[in-house]
Amino acid sequence: MSSSPIRVAIIGTGRISDLHAIEYLNNPAAKIVALCDRDPELAQTKAGAWGLADVAIETDLDAVLARPDVDLVEILLPHHLHLAAAQKAMKAGKIISLQKPMCVSLEEADKLVKAAEAYDRPVKIFENFIFYPPVLKAKALIAEGAIGTPLSIRIKSNPAKSATAWEVPAAANAWRQKADQSGGGPLVFDDGHHKFALAWHFMGDPDEVHAFIGDTEGPGGIRFDAQSQISFRFPGNRIGNLEIVYSPDMELATRHYAQDDRVEITGTGGVIWINGGHGRLADSAPVVLYSDGKITEFRDIATGWEQSFVLSTRHYIDALQTGSAPILTPREARQVLRFALGAEESARIGKTVDLRSQRNSA
Ligand SMILES: NC(=O)c1ccc[n+]([C@@H]2O[C@H](COP(=O)([O-])OP(=O)(O)OC[C@H]3O[C@@H](n4cnc5c(N)ncnc54)[C@H](O)[C@@H]3O)[C@@H](O)[C@H]2O)c1
Repeated sequence: MSSSPIRVAIIGTGRISDLHAIEYLNNPAAKIVALCDRDPELAQTKAGAWGLADVAIETDLDAVLARPDVDLVEILLPHHLHLAAAQKAMKAGKIISLQKPMCVSLEEADKLVKAAEAYDRPVKIFENFIFYPPVLKAKALIAEGAIGTPLSIRIKSNPAKSATAWEVPAAANAWRQKADQSGGGPLVFDDGHHKFALAWHFMGDPDEVHAFIGDTEGPGGIRFDAQSQISFRFPGNRIGNLEIVYSPDMELATRHYAQDDRVEITGTGGVIWINGGHGRLADSAPVVLYSDGKITEFRDIATGWEQSFVLSTRHYIDALQTGSAPILTPREARQVLRFALGAEESARIGKTVDLRSQRNSA
């Protein structure tokens, strides 16, 4: 175990950076030494909010990468900038944590997988939902055999309204409305990435995907790709779906995005429900199990969505110290991206997309 802390630079101090900072600020094995944003006032404001008096403020990625006092870059940029930023960071010899989606096309993903697998330092694609404590609990119950073999996963993304939600800057919505910057719609491709990651996490690689993707006006006049229905098939006659419904008049409790997320996993011998994600519907139990003819509620589980970021970051810090593989590896992240892009393609062509023909060619 190395004794000196990993020196971290956060690249892109936008909306989500607050949740990435939490574990780096609290874990003695890490230290934030630089913040980079093309908007230096924003970076300075974050430095103040996070209590970082002597952190370096940079406006240019190249300047951060040239700094010898930076070991790890946490890349939190709009999606179309991900590949180039990761390539540059590899050239500079930095450890990388790159927010999902790893990039915006399979061609880009193949380049990134190839480069990362030839690189002699760790590269993590940051995915947090699979570290959300209720998801960890459900995974543990399944590993114990609580519902037998999982046969189906149903995932619901339910954006709504919330008086307690955090503010989302207009700039963070603006690039998401442009397909050439975001790579796909805000709910199916962007947030959907987490849901495809969950489906992959519990069920493995899908063989086929079919999608209906709707279009409706979201808050502040943005376009939401809802109502949408995406179904998938996994090998071994197992299935799943992601349903996205915008409920503009439904109030829910959250400190983050105004969205509820719910998952139901049905196995050969029982059912597990995961209630909540970004937000929660009142005080529903975070995990519920039906097995052996009875319902068991698991309530003693942290439900703050920020916990998924804390645990994902902690996992990486630990992995760096032990030399184990990060979750997600670039190769794993490509599988999730393939799933998300397959949904977009299916809706576009009006047909089922066979994902078996898009195996990793890197
Ligand atoms: N894991 C999750 O649940 C989750 C949630 C939200 C966002 N994200 C991901 O985090 C990333 C950032 O999203 P966000 O919502 O924070 O967006 P954002 O727009 O709020 O932040 C992006 C920041 O990057 C800065 N920036 C843009 N181009 C730059 C450049 N060339 N050099 C330096 N800075 C630049 C912008 O000024 C902005 O502050 C995306 O990959 C997104 O998908 C993940």
